[in-house]
Amino acid sequence: MTEQRFEKKVAIYPGSFDPITNGHVDIIKRGCRIFDEIIVLVAFNPNKKSLFSVEERCRFIREVFDGVSGIKVDSHSGLLIDYLATSGASTILRGMRALSDFEYEFQMALMNRRQTKNVETVFLMSGFRWFFTSSNIIKEVASFGGSVKGLVPENVHQRLLEKFNRKKV
Ligand code: PNS
Repeated sequence: MTEQRFEKKVAIYPGSFDPITNGHVDIIKRGCRIFDEIIVLVAFNPNKKSLFSVEERCRFIREVFDGVSGIKVDSHSGLLIDYLATSGASTILRGMRALSDFEYEFQMALMNRRQTKNVETVFLMSGFRWFFTSSNIIKEVASFGGSVKGLVPENVHQRLLEKFNRKKV
């Protein structure tokens, strides 16, 4: 028990991050106040269609947190708990927006716990400004030419404009 108290507190923050939004950035920043290290884990799911490749998604995140200590970026294909087992971490960090997130998050947290006892999920509430945002709604608006400036980091904003053949601003 005493030994554990002085261990580095590491959390894995998994997600699709297709692409990272300012809501995700907010959760990572909040997480930094609690954990010594956060590994932002881009999950690769071959059955899920994504707009950006895993490499691009990782690059966006690395660019956003360039020079910030205590934040690592990695990717993983397969079960999250397998990644945890190899990394030695036992804490999953997830953000919670509105009540609508609760059911999905509850389901995942309990399923992960069922797979392995040695895991806890910590939920942080995202900032009020980001309650209505998600990668999906942002992609949809951007794809029809709507403005998503300020909802995603600027590198992602520019890339979305490029992706949907919109004029860069
Ligand atoms: O950003 P998302 O899409 O809500 O993140 C979901 C994610 C990637 C955290 C979840 O699908 C996941 O953990 N995928 C890895 C595969 C896995 O372990 N699935 C079982 C989860 S209970």
